[in-house]
Amino acid sequence: MRVTPSASDPLTTSSTHEAASPSGGRPAARVVLGVSGGIAAYKACELLRRFSESGHGADFDVTVVPTAAALQFVGESTWAALSGKPVATEVWTEVHRVPHVRIGQSADLLVVAPATADLLAKAAHGLADDLLTNTLLTARCPVVFAPAMHTEMWEHPATQANVATLRERGAVVIEPAEGRLTGVDTGKGRLPEPAEIFELCREVLARGSAVGPDLAGRQVLVTAGGTREYLDPVRFLGNRSSGLQGYALARAAAARGADVILVAANVSLPDPAGVKIVRVETTAELRDAVLAAAPSADAVVMAAAPADYRPVDVSDAKIKKAEDGSAPTVSLAQNPDILHEISTRRARPGAVIVGFAAETGDDSGSVLDLARAKLARKGCDLLVVNDVSGGAVFGSPENEAVILAADGGAVEVQRGPKHALAHVIWDEVAARLQD
Ligand code: CTP
Repeated sequence: MRVTPSASDPLTTSSTHEAASPSGGRPAARVVLGVSGGIAAYKACELLRRFSESGHGADFDVTVVPTAAALQFVGESTWAALSGKPVATEVWTEVHRVPHVRIGQSADLLVVAPATADLLAKAAHGLADDLLTNTLLTARCPVVFAPAMHTEMWEHPATQANVATLRERGAVVIEPAEGRLTGVDTGKGRLPEPAEIFELCREVLARGSAVGPDLAGRQVLVTAGGTREYLDPVRFLGNRSSGLQGYALARAAAARGADVILVAANVSLPDPAGVKIVRVETTAELRDAVLAAAPSADAVVMAAAPADYRPVDVSDAKIKKAEDGSAPTVSLAQNPDILHEISTRRARPGAVIVGFAAETGDDSGSVLDLARAKLARKGCDLLVVNDVSGGAVFGSPENEAVILAADGGAVEVQRGPKHALAHVIWDEVAARLQD
């Protein structure tokens, strides 16, 4: 099968409405930005800017619907100036236009950021006492909630029950980030970075309302980046993996509603919204993190490039250059093959395990011959094969691949953005997940 990635440009697949495009070109996607009353409301200004500046203002048509409490943190004029539209919090403004129904009905995406515990409770119970909660009841488009609150409020059984209800109904509720909260507290409850909420919204829009969050209720584990094997405190053996493909996989899974753990080896990319990140450096640490999370994962995607070898001796002190001009000899030991280990161990029966292979082909066989042999050797369910004969995949925003399946299938994915390949990989995983 040959697949041309459809998510290559989220905007070409998103809008079904004929909203006025500020540029007069393709229709802008209609986004409702709901803002509820938490201190993170100030970060929603940055999210709004991302939407309103995308495509020089042509990509999105944003209507901001703050709650009255949100206006305690950021005033009406800020939202009106940034969105270029009047802003209302109650259903009594311009009643003749029936805003409590119209705004929700005509939206392509509704994102609430920040979503407070109170707003989540109202949404879960169908209360409708202001414009935002009315809009939530009338919207039939994808809905994204980006909660932000203190850890205790997030962890409270009432909030967790409300989140579960909203997810069951098909909303994407992003897990809050961990870090500094208001005042002196730290913990889980921070609003993820606005740029990453924006990326997640683009992914959700690209998939449209027909598909829905098909990975909701699934836990997935993704590895990304390249491991380092230290020779001394300042030097290491490493590789050129950027982590871009793994991060794209994590972001795509979060947009499809999955509970995502991302094990990141030496990656310097922004944290995807709603994803739990475990940072590692060495192959041994990567293995520990994968073995800890794999038993509860419905799918494991090993996009990381673990170093196959590590120095036998690691010096505690920086190794000095020899005065006599001689070079040191480094002895290497082989690292465990994590993909092979989890594929043979199968800690969770029915889990779908995906490996990656960068191949060049040689005298012993073509790229696909070698990849088929590797798929059998590793024992995984799917192998994403990159032909790297011509060089460049590392650090490139684009990728092309063939996804080989242990059941004999093969899907060729033509060159396109890494997030598009990510969605095809999740399509293949989703098709193999058991109930
Ligand atoms: N992998 C792993 N543990 C390792 C090395 C690789 O889990 N120690 C995983 C990678 O994450 C990737 C897959 O195995 O998903 C393929 O890696 P690759 O380096 O192509 O496999 P090798 O077995 O090292 O094969 P080769 O001899 O071709 O390098």
